[in-house]
Amino acid sequence: MLRHLTAGESHGEYLTGILEGFPAGVKITPALIEAQLRRRRQAPGRSARQALETDQFKIISGVAAGLTTGAPISVLIANKGRALPPASSLPRPGHADLAGMLKYDTLNASLIRERASARETAAGVALGAFALRFLEMLDVGVNSRVLSLGELGRLTAESAAAEILRARKAGDTLGGIFELTVENLPAGLGGFGQRDRRLGARLGAALLGINGVKGFEIGGGFSLAALGGKAASLDPGLSGGLDGGMTNGRVLRVRCAVKPVPGLPGGSPSTDLKSFRKKLSSSATSDTTAVFAAAVIAENAAALELAGAVLEKFGGDSLGEIRTRVDEWRKRTQKILRRL
Ligand SMILES: Cc1cc2nc3c(=O)[nH]c(=O)nc-3n(C[C@H](O)[C@H](O)[C@H](O)COP(=O)(O)O)c2cc1C
Repeated sequence: MLRHLTAGESHGEYLTGILEGFPAGVKITPALIEAQLRRRRQAPGRSARQALETDQFKIISGVAAGLTTGAPISVLIANKGRALPPASSLPRPGHADLAGMLKYDTLNASLIRERASARETAAGVALGAFALRFLEMLDVGVNSRVLSLGELGRLTAESAAAEILRARKAGDTLGGIFELTVENLPAGLGGFGQRDRRLGARLGAALLGINGVKGFEIGGGFSLAALGGKAASLDPGLSGGLDGGMTNGRVLRVRCAVKPVPGLPGGSPSTDLKSFRKKLSSSATSDTTAVFAAAVIAENAAALELAGAVLEKFGGDSLGEIRTRVDEWRKRTQKILRRL
Protein backbone atom coordinates (compact mmCIF):
# COMPACT_ATOMS: atom_id res chain seq x y z
CA MET A 1 0.00 0.00 0.00
CA LEU A 2 1.35 3.40 -1.00
CA ARG A 3 0.48 6.15 1.48
CA HIS A 4 1.37 9.78 1.64
CA LEU A 5 0.83 12.69 3.99
CA THR A 6 1.86 16.32 3.98
CA ALA A 7 2.25 18.78 6.85
CA GLY A 8 3.23 22.40 7.22
CA GLU A 9 1.75 25.86 6.87
CA SER A 10 2.10 28.62 4.29
CA HIS A 11 4.21 30.80 6.56
CA GLY A 12 5.76 28.06 8.67
CA GLU A 13 9.44 27.28 8.34
CA TYR A 14 8.88 24.17 6.21
CA LEU A 15 6.37 22.10 4.34
CA THR A 16 6.97 18.40 4.62
CA GLY A 17 5.78 15.31 2.80
CA ILE A 18 6.10 11.61 3.62
CA LEU A 19 5.67 8.81 1.09
CA GLU A 20 5.52 5.31 2.51
CA GLY A 21 5.40 1.98 0.69
CA PHE A 22 7.39 3.22 -2.30
CA PRO A 23 9.63 0.56 -3.92
CA ALA A 24 13.42 0.48 -3.89
CA GLY A 25 15.56 1.01 -6.97
CA VAL A 26 13.84 4.03 -8.53
CA LYS A 27 16.44 6.49 -9.74
CA ILE A 28 15.53 9.99 -8.60
CA THR A 29 17.53 13.18 -8.85
CA PRO A 30 16.85 16.51 -7.14
CA ALA A 31 16.50 17.97 -10.66
CA LEU A 32 13.42 15.80 -11.31
CA ILE A 33 11.71 17.09 -8.17
CA GLU A 34 12.77 20.67 -8.85
CA ALA A 35 11.36 20.42 -12.40
CA GLN A 36 7.91 19.48 -11.08
CA LEU A 37 7.99 22.17 -8.39
CA ARG A 38 9.01 24.75 -10.98
CA ARG A 39 6.16 23.75 -13.31
CA ARG A 40 3.70 24.33 -10.44
CA ARG A 41 5.30 27.57 -9.32
CA GLN A 42 5.77 29.15 -12.73
CA ALA A 43 2.54 28.04 -14.40
CA PRO A 44 0.80 30.77 -16.42
CA GLY A 45 -1.54 32.97 -14.42
CA ARG A 46 0.35 32.86 -11.17
CA SER A 47 1.17 36.09 -9.35
CA ALA A 48 4.51 37.90 -9.29
CA ARG A 49 4.83 36.61 -5.71
CA GLN A 50 5.62 33.16 -7.14
CA ALA A 51 8.77 34.50 -8.78
CA LEU A 52 10.07 35.16 -5.25
CA GLU A 53 9.46 31.55 -4.18
CA THR A 54 12.30 29.13 -4.73
CA ASP A 55 10.86 25.95 -3.24
CA GLN A 56 14.24 24.95 -1.87
CA PHE A 57 13.85 21.35 -0.81
CA LYS A 58 15.79 18.57 0.81
CA ILE A 59 15.24 14.83 0.61
CA ILE A 60 15.53 13.75 4.23
CA SER A 61 15.10 9.99 3.94
CA GLY A 62 14.36 7.05 1.67
CA VAL A 63 16.95 7.83 -0.99
CA ALA A 64 20.61 6.75 -1.02
CA ALA A 65 23.09 7.32 -3.83
CA GLY A 66 20.29 8.57 -6.07
CA LEU A 67 18.12 5.47 -5.67
CA THR A 68 15.05 4.96 -3.51
CA THR A 69 15.75 2.40 -0.75
CA GLY A 70 12.22 1.22 0.08
CA ALA A 71 12.28 3.14 3.38
CA PRO A 72 9.74 5.95 3.92
CA ILE A 73 10.65 8.95 1.80
CA SER A 74 10.48 12.38 3.37
CA VAL A 75 10.97 15.74 1.74
CA LEU A 76 11.28 19.18 3.35
CA ILE A 77 10.51 22.36 1.43
CA ALA A 78 11.63 25.64 2.98
CA ASN A 79 9.22 28.59 3.00
CA LYS A 80 11.66 31.39 2.36
CA GLY A 81 11.38 34.87 3.88
CA ARG A 82 7.84 34.60 5.10
CA ALA A 83 6.50 36.60 8.05
CA LEU A 84 3.47 35.21 9.84
CA PRO A 85 0.46 37.33 8.79
CA PRO A 86 -1.39 39.29 11.50
CA ALA A 87 -4.59 37.91 13.03
CA SER A 88 -7.69 38.68 10.98
CA SER A 89 -11.36 38.22 11.81
CA LEU A 90 -12.39 38.96 8.21
CA PRO A 91 -13.07 35.76 6.24
CA ARG A 92 -12.34 35.84 2.50
CA PRO A 93 -15.33 34.66 0.46
CA GLY A 94 -14.70 31.55 -1.64
CA HIS A 95 -11.97 30.38 0.74
CA ALA A 96 -11.85 27.98 3.68
CA ASP A 97 -11.85 30.98 6.07
CA LEU A 98 -15.46 31.14 7.29
CA ALA A 99 -16.16 27.39 7.42
CA GLY A 100 -12.76 26.83 9.08
CA MET A 101 -13.32 29.56 11.66
CA LEU A 102 -16.66 28.01 12.59
CA LYS A 103 -15.18 24.51 12.61
CA TYR A 104 -12.20 25.33 14.81
CA ASP A 105 -14.02 27.91 16.94
CA THR A 106 -11.63 30.75 16.23
CA LEU A 107 -12.00 34.39 15.22
CA ASN A 108 -8.58 34.34 13.56
CA ALA A 109 -8.89 33.50 9.86
CA SER A 110 -5.10 33.55 9.49
CA LEU A 111 -4.89 30.28 11.44
CA ILE A 112 -7.21 28.64 8.89
CA ARG A 113 -5.51 30.14 5.83
CA GLU A 114 -2.11 28.88 6.89
CA ARG A 115 -3.00 25.28 6.15
CA ALA A 116 -5.99 25.63 3.78
CA SER A 117 -3.91 27.58 1.25
CA ALA A 118 -2.78 25.94 -1.98
CA ARG A 119 0.81 26.32 -0.78
CA GLU A 120 0.33 22.79 0.59
CA THR A 121 0.25 21.48 -2.98
CA ALA A 122 4.01 22.06 -3.27
CA ALA A 123 4.58 19.19 -0.82
CA GLY A 124 2.17 16.97 -2.77
CA VAL A 125 4.00 17.77 -6.00
CA ALA A 126 7.39 16.91 -4.46
CA LEU A 127 6.05 13.47 -3.50
CA GLY A 128 4.24 13.11 -6.81
CA ALA A 129 7.57 13.51 -8.59
CA PHE A 130 8.61 10.12 -7.15
CA ALA A 131 5.41 8.49 -8.37
CA LEU A 132 5.76 10.08 -11.83
CA ARG A 133 9.30 8.72 -12.03
CA PHE A 134 8.17 5.24 -11.00
CA LEU A 135 5.46 5.27 -13.69
CA GLU A 136 7.95 6.55 -16.24
CA MET A 137 10.21 3.57 -15.41
CA LEU A 138 7.24 1.37 -16.32
CA ASP A 139 6.78 3.30 -19.60
CA VAL A 140 3.59 4.96 -18.37
CA GLY A 141 3.21 8.55 -19.56
CA VAL A 142 1.22 11.12 -17.56
CA ASN A 143 0.31 14.38 -19.31
CA SER A 144 -2.06 17.29 -18.93
CA ARG A 145 -3.22 20.22 -20.98
CA VAL A 146 -5.54 23.14 -20.32
CA LEU A 147 -8.56 22.93 -22.62
CA SER A 148 -10.20 26.22 -21.74
CA LEU A 149 -9.48 29.35 -19.77
CA GLY A 150 -12.59 31.22 -18.70
CA GLU A 151 -14.72 31.26 -21.84
CA LEU A 152 -11.72 30.88 -24.13
CA GLY A 153 -11.23 27.50 -25.82
CA ARG A 154 -8.69 26.31 -28.41
CA LEU A 155 -5.89 27.83 -26.39
CA THR A 156 -2.46 28.75 -27.61
CA ALA A 157 0.30 30.04 -25.33
CA GLU A 158 -0.27 33.51 -26.82
CA SER A 159 -4.08 33.56 -26.52
CA ALA A 160 -3.86 32.29 -22.93
CA ALA A 161 -1.28 34.92 -22.00
CA ALA A 162 -3.44 37.66 -23.57
CA GLU A 163 -6.55 36.45 -21.73
CA ILE A 164 -4.69 36.35 -18.41
CA LEU A 165 -3.42 39.88 -18.99
CA ARG A 166 -6.90 41.08 -19.93
CA ALA A 167 -8.41 39.60 -16.76
CA ARG A 168 -5.59 40.99 -14.61
CA LYS A 169 -6.08 44.49 -16.02
CA ALA A 170 -9.81 44.21 -15.44
CA GLY A 171 -9.17 43.25 -11.79
CA ASP A 172 -10.75 39.86 -12.47
CA THR A 173 -9.70 36.22 -12.22
CA LEU A 174 -10.33 33.13 -14.37
CA GLY A 175 -11.21 29.48 -14.04
CA GLY A 176 -10.78 26.79 -16.65
CA ILE A 177 -10.82 23.14 -17.59
CA PHE A 178 -7.83 20.83 -17.85
CA GLU A 179 -7.51 17.33 -19.19
CA LEU A 180 -5.25 14.64 -17.82
CA THR A 181 -4.22 11.66 -19.95
CA VAL A 182 -2.26 8.59 -18.93
CA GLU A 183 -0.86 6.28 -21.59
CA ASN A 184 0.22 2.66 -21.40
CA LEU A 185 -1.27 1.78 -18.03
CA PRO A 186 -1.47 -1.99 -17.51
CA ALA A 187 -5.05 -3.26 -17.85
CA GLY A 188 -6.87 -4.33 -14.72
CA LEU A 189 -5.68 -1.66 -12.24
CA GLY A 190 -8.30 -0.73 -9.65
CA GLY A 191 -11.30 -2.93 -8.98
CA PHE A 192 -15.07 -3.26 -8.80
CA GLY A 193 -15.50 -5.27 -5.61
CA GLN A 194 -16.03 -2.22 -3.42
CA ARG A 195 -16.72 1.42 -4.28
CA ASP A 196 -13.44 2.57 -2.83
CA ARG A 197 -11.53 0.18 -5.09
CA ARG A 198 -12.91 1.79 -8.26
CA LEU A 199 -10.03 3.64 -9.82
CA GLY A 200 -12.28 6.43 -11.15
CA ALA A 201 -13.50 7.11 -7.62
CA ARG A 202 -9.94 7.14 -6.32
CA LEU A 203 -8.75 9.52 -9.02
CA GLY A 204 -11.82 11.70 -8.47
CA ALA A 205 -11.01 11.99 -4.76
CA ALA A 206 -7.36 12.80 -5.50
CA LEU A 207 -8.15 15.49 -8.08
CA LEU A 208 -11.17 17.00 -6.33
CA GLY A 209 -8.86 17.33 -3.33
CA ILE A 210 -6.90 20.03 -5.15
CA ASN A 211 -7.89 23.55 -4.05
CA GLY A 212 -10.40 25.11 -6.41
CA VAL A 213 -11.19 21.94 -8.41
CA LYS A 214 -14.98 21.78 -8.60
CA GLY A 215 -15.74 19.31 -11.36
CA PHE A 216 -14.40 15.92 -12.43
CA GLU A 217 -15.39 13.73 -15.34
CA ILE A 218 -14.11 10.50 -16.84
CA GLY A 219 -13.97 10.10 -20.62
CA GLY A 220 -17.25 11.31 -22.12
CA GLY A 221 -18.26 12.46 -18.63
CA PHE A 222 -21.25 14.79 -18.46
CA SER A 223 -21.78 14.64 -22.24
CA LEU A 224 -22.63 10.92 -21.92
CA ALA A 225 -25.87 11.84 -20.20
CA ALA A 226 -27.27 13.26 -23.43
CA LEU A 227 -26.19 10.36 -25.66
CA GLY A 228 -28.25 7.32 -26.52
CA GLY A 229 -26.75 3.96 -25.68
CA LYS A 230 -26.31 3.19 -29.39
CA ALA A 231 -24.29 6.32 -30.03
CA ALA A 232 -22.28 5.87 -26.84
CA SER A 233 -21.39 2.31 -27.76
CA LEU A 234 -19.83 3.44 -31.05
CA ASP A 235 -16.94 5.23 -29.36
CA PRO A 236 -15.03 3.11 -26.82
CA GLY A 237 -12.87 6.14 -26.05
CA LEU A 238 -15.86 7.62 -24.18
CA SER A 239 -15.04 5.25 -21.32
CA GLY A 240 -11.92 7.32 -20.63
CA GLY A 241 -9.90 4.13 -20.25
CA LEU A 242 -11.89 2.88 -17.27
CA ASP A 243 -14.62 0.26 -17.21
CA GLY A 244 -16.15 -0.98 -13.98
CA GLY A 245 -13.56 0.91 -11.96
CA MET A 246 -10.58 -0.72 -13.73
CA THR A 247 -8.17 0.30 -16.46
CA ASN A 248 -9.21 -1.34 -19.73
CA GLY A 249 -5.98 -0.96 -21.68
CA ARG A 250 -7.00 2.28 -23.38
CA VAL A 251 -5.69 5.77 -22.69
CA LEU A 252 -6.98 7.04 -19.35
CA ARG A 253 -8.64 10.41 -19.87
CA VAL A 254 -10.19 12.62 -17.18
CA ARG A 255 -11.05 16.30 -17.03
CA CYS A 256 -11.37 18.79 -14.19
CA ALA A 257 -13.11 22.15 -13.91
CA VAL A 258 -11.25 24.72 -11.81
CA LYS A 259 -13.19 27.67 -10.40
CA PRO A 260 -11.98 31.25 -10.88
CA VAL A 261 -9.50 32.27 -8.19
CA PRO A 262 -11.69 33.72 -5.41
CA GLY A 263 -9.19 36.37 -4.25
CA LEU A 264 -9.99 39.47 -6.32
CA PRO A 265 -7.38 42.25 -6.56
CA GLY A 266 -10.03 44.85 -5.75
CA GLY A 267 -11.23 42.88 -2.72
CA SER A 268 -14.47 41.00 -2.06
CA PRO A 269 -17.36 42.03 0.21
CA SER A 270 -17.23 40.22 3.55
CA THR A 271 -18.30 40.60 7.18
CA ASP A 272 -15.88 41.00 10.09
CA LEU A 273 -16.76 38.27 12.59
CA LYS A 274 -15.80 40.44 15.59
CA SER A 275 -17.64 43.66 14.73
CA PHE A 276 -20.12 42.23 12.18
CA ARG A 277 -19.32 45.27 10.06
CA LYS A 278 -19.31 44.84 6.27
CA LYS A 279 -15.78 45.22 4.90
CA LEU A 280 -13.77 44.44 1.80
CA SER A 281 -11.36 41.53 2.18
CA SER A 282 -8.38 42.35 0.02
CA SER A 283 -6.35 39.85 -2.04
CA ALA A 284 -3.86 42.11 -3.77
CA THR A 285 -1.29 39.36 -4.36
CA SER A 286 -3.63 36.69 -5.75
CA ASP A 287 -2.97 34.57 -8.81
CA THR A 288 -5.10 35.40 -11.85
CA THR A 289 -5.86 31.76 -12.58
CA ALA A 290 -4.97 28.46 -10.93
CA VAL A 291 -5.98 26.20 -13.82
CA PHE A 292 -2.49 25.76 -15.30
CA ALA A 293 -0.90 25.11 -11.91
CA ALA A 294 -3.77 22.79 -10.94
CA ALA A 295 -3.12 20.70 -14.08
CA VAL A 296 0.50 20.16 -12.95
CA ILE A 297 -0.62 19.35 -9.41
CA ALA A 298 -3.17 16.92 -10.86
CA GLU A 299 -0.48 15.03 -12.81
CA ASN A 300 1.39 14.52 -9.57
CA ALA A 301 -1.70 13.68 -7.52
CA ALA A 302 -2.92 11.18 -10.14
CA ALA A 303 0.56 9.64 -10.35
CA LEU A 304 0.50 8.91 -6.61
CA GLU A 305 -2.89 7.21 -6.96
CA LEU A 306 -1.87 5.23 -10.05
CA ALA A 307 1.48 4.19 -8.60
CA GLY A 308 -0.48 2.88 -5.61
CA ALA A 309 -2.82 0.94 -7.91
CA VAL A 310 0.17 -0.58 -9.75
CA LEU A 311 1.74 -1.68 -6.46
CA GLU A 312 -1.56 -3.20 -5.31
CA LYS A 313 -1.90 -5.25 -8.49
CA PHE A 314 1.70 -6.35 -8.95
CA GLY A 315 3.19 -6.18 -5.44
CA GLY A 316 6.97 -6.17 -5.21
CA ASP A 317 9.52 -4.21 -3.25
CA SER A 318 11.98 -3.16 -5.92
CA LEU A 319 11.63 -1.68 -9.37
CA GLY A 320 13.28 -4.65 -11.12
CA GLU A 321 10.86 -7.12 -9.55
CA ILE A 322 7.83 -4.99 -10.39
CA ARG A 323 9.01 -4.28 -13.93
CA THR A 324 9.32 -8.02 -14.66
CA ARG A 325 5.78 -8.63 -13.44
CA VAL A 326 4.34 -5.70 -15.37
CA ASP A 327 6.11 -6.78 -18.58
CA GLU A 328 4.79 -10.32 -18.20
CA TRP A 329 1.27 -9.03 -17.55
CA ARG A 330 1.38 -6.71 -20.54
CA LYS A 331 2.42 -9.59 -22.80
CA ARG A 332 -0.46 -11.67 -21.49
CA THR A 333 -3.17 -9.01 -21.75
CA GLN A 334 -1.98 -7.60 -25.05
CA LYS A 335 -2.42 -10.99 -26.68
CA ILE A 336 -6.14 -10.44 -26.11
CA LEU A 337 -6.40 -6.65 -26.42
CA ARG A 338 -4.59 -6.62 -29.78
CA ARG A 339 -7.23 -8.88 -31.31
CA LEU A 340 -10.25 -6.78 -30.29
C1 LIG B 1 -1.94 26.34 -7.35
C2 LIG B 1 -3.10 27.12 -6.81
C3 LIG B 1 -2.95 28.45 -6.56
C4 LIG B 1 -4.02 29.21 -6.06
N1 LIG B 1 -3.83 30.54 -5.83
C5 LIG B 1 -4.83 31.26 -5.32
C6 LIG B 1 -4.65 32.65 -5.06
O1 LIG B 1 -3.58 33.22 -5.31
N2 LIG B 1 -5.68 33.34 -4.54
C7 LIG B 1 -6.89 32.74 -4.26
O2 LIG B 1 -7.79 33.42 -3.80
N3 LIG B 1 -7.09 31.43 -4.50
C8 LIG B 1 -6.11 30.69 -5.02
N4 LIG B 1 -6.30 29.35 -5.29
C9 LIG B 1 -7.62 28.76 -5.02
C10 LIG B 1 -7.85 28.58 -3.55
O3 LIG B 1 -6.74 27.92 -2.95
C11 LIG B 1 -9.12 27.76 -3.28
O4 LIG B 1 -10.18 28.27 -4.02
C12 LIG B 1 -9.42 27.82 -1.79
O5 LIG B 1 -8.41 27.10 -1.10
C13 LIG B 1 -10.77 27.26 -1.42
O6 LIG B 1 -10.86 25.91 -1.75
P1 LIG B 1 -12.05 25.40 -2.67
O7 LIG B 1 -12.14 26.39 -3.80
O8 LIG B 1 -11.60 24.06 -3.13
O9 LIG B 1 -13.28 25.38 -1.85
C14 LIG B 1 -5.26 28.57 -5.80
C15 LIG B 1 -5.41 27.21 -6.05
C16 LIG B 1 -4.35 26.47 -6.56
C17 LIG B 1 -4.52 25.02 -6.84
